[in-house]
Amino acid sequence: MARPFRCVTRTAAIGLALAVMTPSARAQAECEPADLGCAIFNGQHPMAAHLRDDDRPLPSWTTRCVNCHAGASTAAAFAPPLTHDSLLAATPRRGGPISHYDVTAFCRAVKDGVDPAGVLLRKSMPRYQIADAECMALWRYIVHQ
Ligand code: HEC
Repeated sequence: MARPFRCVTRTAAIGLALAVMTPSARAQAECEPADLGCAIFNGQHPMAAHLRDDDRPLPSWTTRCVNCHAGASTAAAFAPPLTHDSLLAATPRRGGPISHYDVTAFCRAVKDGVDPAGVLLRKSMPRYQIADAECMALWRYIVHQ
């Protein structure tokens, strides 16, 4: 695959490049064969996605959740942690009112790029073409770890 970053906007490309190059213990995660959520999160089950306002499909190796959402620290992280506590906590997010995730809000964020309070996520969070069953498996995996 030659120069895939040419296909995306410059800012997003830098973000994707940084994210992909960040070493992560979770990137090595071994999933149980039946754990679809784990396979999606870590990239063994490739997901189709694109950036907001841009129909072109992202290369699948850039769309693994673990590339950007690794670790539990919010300090200087490219993307916020995705954990039981971070998603279920009732807290103000990106300047909006207090909100928390449930499976419906989570799937809306993954598909449509808005948080539970309806605030638009940054463009560097891809938008996924994900089936309901896949999204529910992903939610279960994230909130149970
Ligand atoms: C290329 C990097 C990248 C990838 C890959 C990525 N994300 Fe994100 N994601 C982000 C960024 C950056 C944000 C923060 C957006 C903001 O604050 O506006 C984010 C935010 C989120 C949020 C909102 C979290 C919150 O605290 O409100 C959820 C949920 C989420 N991502 C889920 C996922 C899932 C699930 C996957 C894999 C299917 C994924 N992301 C893949 C970059 C990424």
